[in-house]
Amino acid sequence: MGSLRGRDVLSAFDFNREDLFRLFDLAERLRGEISSRGILDYARGRVMVTAFFEPSTRTKISFQFAMARLGGEVVDFIEEASSIRKGETEEDTMRILDGYSPDVIVVRHSRPFFPHSVKDIVKAPIINGGDGTNEHPTQALLDVYTIWREFGRVDGICIGILGDLKYGRTAPSLSYILTRFNDVTIYYIAPRQLQVREEVLKKIEGRVRYHLVESVEEIASKLDVLYVTRLQKERFEDPQEYERLKGSYIITRNMLEKHRKIPMIMHPLPRVGEITTDVDTLPQAKYFEQAKNGMYVRAALLKEVLGV
Ligand code: NCD
Repeated sequence: MGSLRGRDVLSAFDFNREDLFRLFDLAERLRGEISSRGILDYARGRVMVTAFFEPSTRTKISFQFAMARLGGEVVDFIEEASSIRKGETEEDTMRILDGYSPDVIVVRHSRPFFPHSVKDIVKAPIINGGDGTNEHPTQALLDVYTIWREFGRVDGICIGILGDLKYGRTAPSLSYILTRFNDVTIYYIAPRQLQVREEVLKKIEGRVRYHLVESVEEIASKLDVLYVTRLQKERFEDPQEYERLKGSYIITRNMLEKHRKIPMIMHPLPRVGEITTDVDTLPQAKYFEQAKNGMYVRAALLKEVLGV
């Protein structure tokens, strides 16, 4: 059996099919152990640093909870209160954090490939918690874990990924991780200006079936999962374009009641109006559960990377 011990996790492609099933099983086991014992002791004596140079709620906090549940320690770097404000570079910052010998560093940055660019200047394994528009591999991990829990499989799934597929990083990572499963179909649903990037399609070519469409309605009846994303306001070059496009697609209870056949609605969150709150109580609304699943599967990942 392989393992991710000591490895960097920079891309969703860093997980092979065997890794994914092993992590799903481990997440299930940890879920049971955490529910009966609260705090475990696998990671006792180990330290994780969270170095987030960009805002985060779920990714940072779920990693921190995951490490706490494993019995490890957490050190949080907070950019706003750091010497970055005095002009220190992020590279030097990473070098300093690594100098205190953490066992793993989770890093998020607005610059694509930032984690890749510092992986050789730090000794600790690096987990990418989101790098600009590029990738968000652990989000993809919790996304497929959530699909697997719901359907008992990911093979054969038909998923619509809706919203800002140009600037969002969850859509690329989810697409990459889905190549590890068989017979997957992806519908990319977006206005032309926000369609998925060519470079993403190149990487999945021949490994999943995909189609580019502009409206949910035309393919709703085919979907097992509708995965909604927000417009990435902070990444738009032209604020007016954001204003024009925001609200292009809003998923409402009314719309879903017409398409009762969509069995599962997901969203990486935060939502900023793409799913109206009246959807939350529908049985197929899984986005809050998806966020909770993140902690268990990140605990499984940390346990493997730490080799504990
Ligand atoms: C996503 C991100 O940061 O890319 N959030 C998250 O980690 N759940 C999605 C987003 O910000 O739109």
